[in-house]
Amino acid sequence: MRITVERSPSSQIAADALVVPVFECVREERFGAAELTDAGEVTGKRLELTLIHHAPGVSAGRVLLAGAGKADKFDAAQLRRLSGAAVRCLMAKSLKKIALLLAPALASTENVSAAVEGAILGEFEPDRYKTGDDKKSVEAFAVVVEEGSPDLEAAADRGRVLGEAQNFTRGLVNEPANRLTPAALVEAARQMAAAYQLDCQVLDRQEMEKLGMGALLGVAQGSAEPPALIVILYKPATTASRAHLGLVGKGVTFDSGGISIKPGDGMEKMKYDMAGAAAVLGAMRAIAQLKPAIPVTAFLPTVENMPGSRAQRPGDIVTAMSGKTIEVINTDAEGRLILADALHYARQRGCTHLVDAATLTGAIVVALGHLNVGLFANDDGMRDRVLAAAKAEGERMWAMPLEDDYKDYLKSAFADLPNVGGRWGGAITAAMFLKEFAGDTPWVHLDIAGTAWLDDSKPFQAKGPSGVPVRTLVRLALDWKE
Ligand code: BES
Ligand code: ZN
Ligand code: ZN
Repeated sequence: MRITVERSPSSQIAADALVVPVFECVREERFGAAELTDAGEVTGKRLELTLIHHAPGVSAGRVLLAGAGKADKFDAAQLRRLSGAAVRCLMAKSLKKIALLLAPALASTENVSAAVEGAILGEFEPDRYKTGDDKKSVEAFAVVVEEGSPDLEAAADRGRVLGEAQNFTRGLVNEPANRLTPAALVEAARQMAAAYQLDCQVLDRQEMEKLGMGALLGVAQGSAEPPALIVILYKPATTASRAHLGLVGKGVTFDSGGISIKPGDGMEKMKYDMAGAAAVLGAMRAIAQLKPAIPVTAFLPTVENMPGSRAQRPGDIVTAMSGKTIEVINTDAEGRLILADALHYARQRGCTHLVDAATLTGAIVVALGHLNVGLFANDDGMRDRVLAAAKAEGERMWAMPLEDDYKDYLKSAFADLPNVGGRWGGAITAAMFLKEFAGDTPWVHLDIAGTAWLDDSKPFQAKGPSGVPVRTLVRLALDWKE
């Protein structure tokens, strides 16, 4: 999708359709909207879409009146959705050139970025493996602003980078597990890193054995697919920063549950158990282009969790790289095992601040549904940084408790830690387990099990992978202050 900012009068925009946001209780007089408003057909309610042919006063073939809701509730997040819904509606009608009109009061840099992101996100369809020839796409998307508006090109470009990074993530998450094995994820990471001049290092099984990553390797041993730990480094041109951000992503390319095998119903969805790793990869892709001042290193442990004849068993005790012993009560609680070694390794590599993203627990879906990412932190400052980044990017996150008293939920008679707690507070005990491996490094854990995949499509977004939390991770790095 070609992205531009146009400064011609709206009457002269050559497009298949011009999208015009209309607000509740604000009477739009132009483009023939007045009559429709008076007839009650156009109300301005959120995401109400009305297509008009041959609208007066425009050269674009059509005008799409797009409901924006109440003006005082309208923000960049709303605009991102409006833009996405408009693109999906027009794309379905095979329209190729789309323009979005932003009134002067709406033409902020944040809004221009969000409009472009929404358009790019809206275009995504998880249909790579459908062979029909009826696939739709959009050629060009223009944000139309008043003549003489300040420089908004950088904002549009930022939106393009972020939108494309999220779609890159969504594409990876959508890949089935027979095609996206740990080795294939390594290849995707290498290609991305090479395309954006990032350094990429890959630890194989032997190297991980030498480092003593028994927790990660225990998960991998039930699969014929070899595991890997992918490390990607972004270094700013000038390194004044004393902080070094580590992003850790769960990369289980398929989670069968292992010997503690999952029920068959819905198991096909467990190809998305690498959504954390894919989000970190997408974030690094954007970071390489937007160049924050802080060094950022990604750590992506990737394995397949299978019940092969060499698989670990419930009751097995493994030794993590940190030296802690873990009793594997349930082989389906594998994410925390691979993250334990990745978090410890990230600290050893010099990261001063850590964020991990992981489809870690079904319990977080019970707690927060599909709307909010569960956020856990061992440090209030780090928690507030991530919450602020998430808010600015319109990715909803909710801070969950992580008090030391929850430690009582994680007791093993035979090892330092069990890999699961009791019946209650499953998302919290999973986070408590990880906390043991983050040590005293300020750290945030994002449980994205409920938010990385949408079971139903939205007007602005196809069903399937969402691309959460790519934008938050990028914003965290860009806005970093010591
Ligand atoms: N990948 C799953 C978490 C998950 C569950 C993601 C449902 C998305 C939807 C994870 O590895 C897992 O299986 N967790 C178990 C933990 C349990 C065994 C303590 C779970 O949540 O059921
Ligand atoms: Zn599992
Ligand atoms: Zn899992």
